Amino acid sequence: MTVRVGMVGCGGIANWHAGHLEQFDDVKVVAACDIIVERAEAMAERFGGANVYDNHTEMYEKEDLDAVFICIPPGAHTDSETAAAEKGINIFVEKPMTVCLDQAREVRDAIEKAGIVSAVGFQDRYLDIIDNLHSFIKDRKVGLFTGAWIGGMPPVHWWRVKAESGGQIVEQNIHNFDLARMLFGEVETVYAQAGTGIMVGIENYDVEDYSSVMLTFENGVIGNIITGDYLKGAVPRNGLEIYCEDARVEYQLRRAVIYHSRYNVKEERRAIDQGVRSDRTFINAVKANDPTMVRSPYRDAFRSLAVTLAANKSFETGKPIKMTY
Ligand SMILES: NC(=O)c1ccc[n+]([C@@H]2O[C@H](COP(=O)([O-])OP(=O)(O)OC[C@H]3O[C@@H](n4cnc5c(N)ncnc54)[C@H](O)[C@@H]3O)[C@@H](O)[C@H]2O)c1
Repeated sequence: MTVRVGMVGCGGIANWHAGHLEQFDDVKVVAACDIIVERAEAMAERFGGANVYDNHTEMYEKEDLDAVFICIPPGAHTDSETAAAEKGINIFVEKPMTVCLDQAREVRDAIEKAGIVSAVGFQDRYLDIIDNLHSFIKDRKVGLFTGAWIGGMPPVHWWRVKAESGGQIVEQNIHNFDLARMLFGEVETVYAQAGTGIMVGIENYDVEDYSSVMLTFENGVIGNIITGDYLKGAVPRNGLEIYCEDARVEYQLRRAVIYHSRYNVKEERRAIDQGVRSDRTFINAVKANDPTMVRSPYRDAFRSLAVTLAANKSFETGKPIKMTY
C-alpha cells in the first residue's frame, strides 16, 4: 500500500517532516496546502508536482488522502483536524495542537469517534536514549526532578503573540512537560509564576519572558520546570534532571543522557534520528490501521497540552490548579 499524504501548512517543521517522508518508498505526498501559496508550491515541487491548495477544506474534498500532516501555528487551528477525522483521514498534528483546550477536547473526541490513527509531534518519545532512560527509572524511586527550556526567542512572527503561540511553555517547553508525563504519570496539581520586563521594545511581544512551574504527580513525584526566552549569548539549557535514590540522571534535549552515580559517570549519546522514527511509526500505524502503535496519540497529548495551559491559568490567577481532563 502507498500512503497518500497531504500537508497542511508548509513552513519550517512541515519541511522537516517532508525530509523524512522523502525517504519512505511507500509514501506519496499528493497535495500541499498553505495560506501562503508559494510555500505550498515549493512543497509540491519537492514531491514532483503534488496538487497545490490555499485551504484544507478544498484539499480534503478533492483529494483521496490516507493521512494528513498538520503543521500550522498553534493559534491558527480551526477545523483542520475535525474535518479530517470526519472524512476518515489519519492525522499527524504538530504540538501544541491548539491554544484552546475546549477545541482540543473536541478534536480528541472526533478522533476517538472516527477510530483513525492520530499522532502528535512529541519527537523525544522516539529517542533511543529516552527508551533507555525510561527503563532505568522504571524500577527506581524518584522523588524530585527539574526541567528547563531556557534560550532565545524563535524568529517566526507568530511566536511572540500569546494568542497565536500560547507562550513559551505551551509552544516549546511542552516537550519537557510531555516527557515528564511519560516518565512519571499523570499530573495532579500545577502552580506557576511568570515574569516580564527583560524583553523590551519588541513589536507585538506579549508572552512571558520567564517562568517557573511546580508540578505534583499522582505517584508523589514533585517537579519544577523553568522556562525563559531572554538569553542572548548565554548558553541555553534544555532538558530534565531526575533524582533517583542511587543516581542523578540528566537528559540533555535530543543529545544525550548522563547517568551520574557516586563513583561513575556514564554518557549515552543519541544514535538514531527520532524524527524519522516518529514519522515512520505513524506511517506504519496508518498502514496497519492500528492507533495503538503511536507513542503520542492525540488523546494522550491532550493531557500534556492541558497541563501547560493550566500553567498559563495559574500565572493569571496566582493559584494552584488541580488537573481535571
Ligand atoms: N515537534 C517539534 O519539535 C516542532 C518543532 C518546530 C515547530 N513545531 C510546531 O509546528 C507548528 C508550526 O511551526 P513552524 O515552525 O513550522 O511555523 P512556520 O511559521 O514556519 O510554518 C507554519 C505554516 O503554516 C501556514 N499556515 C498558517 N495558517 C494556516 C492555515 N490555516 N492553513 C494552511 N496553512 C497555514 C503558514 O503560512 C506557514 O507557512 C507549531 O505548532 C510549532 O510549535 C514543532
